[in-house]
Amino acid sequence: MIVTIDGPAGTGKSTVARILASRLGFEFLNTGAMYRAVAYVCLERHVNLDDTEAVGRVPIGLDIVFRNNRLFLDGNDVTEAIRGQEVTQTASLVAANELVRQRLVQLQRDVARNVNLVTEGRDQGTVVFQDAQCKFFLTASPHERALRRQRELQARGDEVALDELLAQQELRDERDETRACSPLKPADDALVIDTTPMSLEDVAGYLETLVRGRMDH
Ligand code: DC
Repeated sequence: MIVTIDGPAGTGKSTVARILASRLGFEFLNTGAMYRAVAYVCLERHVNLDDTEAVGRVPIGLDIVFRNNRLFLDGNDVTEAIRGQEVTQTASLVAANELVRQRLVQLQRDVARNVNLVTEGRDQGTVVFQDAQCKFFLTASPHERALRRQRELQARGDEVALDELLAQQELRDERDETRACSPLKPADDALVIDTTPMSLEDVAGYLETLVRGRMDH
C-alpha cells in the first residue's frame, strides 16, 4: 500500500509521515530530503544554478539513500547539513529542474517496489504515485508554517526573524506552485487537511484511522 502526503513546507508533512509510518509498520520516504541533497551537492561543487544542463547532470551517478529517517549521500550522512538556510533556498530552484525530477522520481519509485510506504513531498499523489490508495494534502496558515520553521532553526542554534522566514516561504511557495513540471497542488483524489489548529500527533492519529479503514476494504 502507498500513502502519499503532499503540501507546502511547514505543514507538518514529514513529522506526520514519520509517525504514521511507524504506527502502521510502513517504510517512510522524505522526498524533500532528496531534492535538498542534490542542492547540497550543487553548492559544494559551485554549480552555476542558472545552467539547467549542469544542474540536471548533478544527480547522475550520485548514490542518494533515505533510510531510518537519515539521508545518505554516497554513503555519508548529510541529514543535518541539508537543513540549513542556503540549502533550503537552493532546493526549490533545483526542484524546478526537469532532469533532476526525472532521476529522483525514478529513485522514489524504486524505493516503493515491494514495500508498504508512507511518502511525503510535493508531487507524490499527483505524479509519482498516481495510483496510491490513500492521498493526503496538508495545509496550514503561512504564519503557523513560518513559526514551525523558526522553531526548527532555533533547535539548530539558528535565530532567524519571522518576517524574513515569511518572505522566504512566500518565494519558495511561489516557485513550487508555478513551476512547469510537477507544480505543487493537491491531487484530485486527495483529502485536504488544515493542520493549523491541530497537534501533529493528532493529525497522524486521524490519518492512521483513515488508512486503517481503507486497509480493511
Ligand atoms: O519538503 P522540503 O522543504 O524538504 O523540500 C525541499 C524542496 O524540494 C522544496 O522547495 C520543494 C521541493 N520538493 C519537490 O519539488 N518535490 C518533492 N517531492 C519534494 C520536495
